[in-house]
Amino acid sequence: MRIAVFSAKPYDRTFLTCANTAERHFLSFFDARLTVETATLAQGFDGVCAFVNDCLDEAVLQQLHDGGTTLIALRSAGFNHVDLAAAERLGMTVARVPAYSPHAVAEHAVALVLSLNRMTYRAYNRVREGNFALDGLLGFDLHGKTVGVIGTGQIGLIFASIMHGFGCRILASDPFPNPQAAPFVKYVPLETLYAQSDIISLHCPLTPDTNHLIDADAIAQMKQGVMLINTGRGRVVDTQAVIASLKSGKIGRLGLDVYEEEEQLFFEDLSHGVIDDDQFMRLTTFHNVLITGHQAFFTTEALTNIAETTLANIDAFESGEGEIHTVEITR
Ligand code: NAI
Repeated sequence: MRIAVFSAKPYDRTFLTCANTAERHFLSFFDARLTVETATLAQGFDGVCAFVNDCLDEAVLQQLHDGGTTLIALRSAGFNHVDLAAAERLGMTVARVPAYSPHAVAEHAVALVLSLNRMTYRAYNRVREGNFALDGLLGFDLHGKTVGVIGTGQIGLIFASIMHGFGCRILASDPFPNPQAAPFVKYVPLETLYAQSDIISLHCPLTPDTNHLIDADAIAQMKQGVMLINTGRGRVVDTQAVIASLKSGKIGRLGLDVYEEEEQLFFEDLSHGVIDDDQFMRLTTFHNVLITGHQAFFTTEALTNIAETTLANIDAFESGEGEIHTVEITR
């Protein structure tokens, strides 16, 4: 099949080319993010391979469909950026990579917890400047603390088990409790999780229910000085509410791998220009905020699995044989 790969970075080219053994598909790599302006690049391609910040709304899907595209092969697990109803109406198949390395994301969430707790990012800079003072670096023992996990699917479960290994007490909220979590996780109502957790980590998908789940009202129910970690999706958190809570001290430490308006920022080198997102820049001024640019998934194992599953989805779509991980519409 002829596949147009959007938002293609050097690592995407490397891993996808490697997985495309015997060059069984023709992969064309485009640096551009998929938008209504760039969709014409896919004219005449059977399939489009897209990532998390590509736009797959109705207008883009219509253009792709008109250009002959019948398969959307996502290089991600999340599919909140796809208008599934429009895809269904247009008869397009949407495939994804349901699990590539939940360990990668869970371990990155733990890295944010550890770095924020002991402020290793501040210590690194201080030591390089010959500043060995410890003021401002005070952490706390994780052992004995309460960790609230929102969403105990593949990633949340692993995160919970690692934190349990540190000696933390684990509370969780999930409309579908995970039986594998039963031995070490206590499911509680969200209000209880908010009220009792020293650390709260978000591992639920972005849905209409979870959009701005963490808003001013939710934060008001949390402990003073709570640590909040988001490696899920940016829009699960109301950034303005979080900024207000950082200013008041209600949120004591914030770790983000995702951000509400990340489509305009993440995965690009913008260091030569001016970043005009004032909300994002405000976040970067807090010494107790640690932001990474959607890199939680970024391990060799995950990229290998993403590439292999994506190519397997394309194989299965073309041949009609084997498993294709389609995204179904739930009504
Ligand atoms: P999963 O589908 O295995 O688990 C998600 C869990 O969230 C499910 O158990 C579901 O029941 C639960 N959930 C749904 N609505 C909820 C709600 N209102 N409150 C609490 N829990 C709710 O998904 P997985 O693989 O664990 O991924 C979780 C999320 O992590 C993805 O949806 C994606 O947004 C994000 N992600 C981030 C990455 C990164 O690089 N930062 C990479 C991969 C995923």
